Amino acid sequence: VNKLLHPLQIGTLRLENNLALAPMAGTTDRSFRIICHAFGAGLTITELVSARGICHDASLRRNWRYLAIDPAEVPVGIQLFGSEPADFRMAIQIIGNHPLLSQCSLIDLNMGCPAAKVLRSGAGAALMQNPELAGRIIESSVRAAEAFGKPVTVKFRKGWDTGLANAVPFARLCEAAGASALTIHGRTREQMYGGFADWQVIGAVKNAVRIAVYGSGDVKSADSAADLIRLTGVDGVMIGRAAQGCPWLFQEIAAGLAWQDDSEGGFSSGVISMQEKVAVVTRHLDGLIGLLGEAAGVREMRGQLTRYFKGTPGGSELKKKAMSAASRQDVLAALADWHRDWAKSCENS
Ligand SMILES: Cc1cc2nc3c(=O)[nH]c(=O)nc-3n(C[C@H](O)[C@H](O)[C@H](O)COP(=O)(O)O)c2cc1C
Repeated sequence: VNKLLHPLQIGTLRLENNLALAPMAGTTDRSFRIICHAFGAGLTITELVSARGICHDASLRRNWRYLAIDPAEVPVGIQLFGSEPADFRMAIQIIGNHPLLSQCSLIDLNMGCPAAKVLRSGAGAALMQNPELAGRIIESSVRAAEAFGKPVTVKFRKGWDTGLANAVPFARLCEAAGASALTIHGRTREQMYGGFADWQVIGAVKNAVRIAVYGSGDVKSADSAADLIRLTGVDGVMIGRAAQGCPWLFQEIAAGLAWQDDSEGGFSSGVISMQEKVAVVTRHLDGLIGLLGEAAGVREMRGQLTRYFKGTPGGSELKKKAMSAASRQDVLAALADWHRDWAKSCENS
């Protein structure tokens, strides 16, 4: 019987498990990725970064902010978007020759982004309408990445719209062009992030290729991860929105899958205490400050705090304080107030 939780091989890269953090613009910063690893994510991926930007935008190259990689966080993939094979080739060469960036584990190609800004330049999901160009981009990326020993993976959608739901032939094309693994998000470009992901198309892609396939869309728990794996046979699952403000979800899912694999092995435990939650948030903040400096790190943390405390009692009060926080100390004070009020409300209930 195939296990739900298992190591995964992507080209020459061996991953400890088959759970991955989905790339998310504005969420999967370096600090967050490191925390997801600590909670058991087998792979994380940066948000999409412009291949052309890496080649030509001096400001992007000066601070590498979106790309910053920490040796502590491998395995991590760098996700590139663009529409010119030459841009990908050059960007990968720059990455491969950079002392830190070259420590990334793989290069992931974005062929699923539905944002108008990205589509206008023929990148992201627009490439699903132009398989010939997509194939050339993959081939040229694979060739450039081979020189540095990095596998190339591709992330795409069910298709452009229901009329052009070409995920299966597109997956075959990616494999033929040299991709080492694929991620299929079961929504069309037209659906953006609405409705439910189509898990059937994930299964169809899995059956169409021999390389490893990650399924993406609507995995929120150990049960939904197990359902997706059982229904589609995918090799791995990517977890996106459910992990926002909730990096311990990886521990919960890994424990839940391991329990389903071997219920004799003990009980699953994915629960974290509020004290741990505050510690995780503090670690995320400190990671951002380490990367961006105190002022920018505190600013960047605002959106992340909103995600950590969405729907929790006292969460909106904390969010208000975080919006005016100017220093690390301000954020820690707001967190301490929240934690104290939370503990009090537990005593009273
Ligand atoms: C805020 C946000 C940003 C995203 N940014 C990216 C991105 O940069 N690259 C990418 O390939 N997918 C991106 N995605 C798509 C996710 O990786 C994932 O495929 C999708 O959200 C479905 O999974 P989920 O239901 O687990 O969230 C993004 C999704 C969200 C919600």
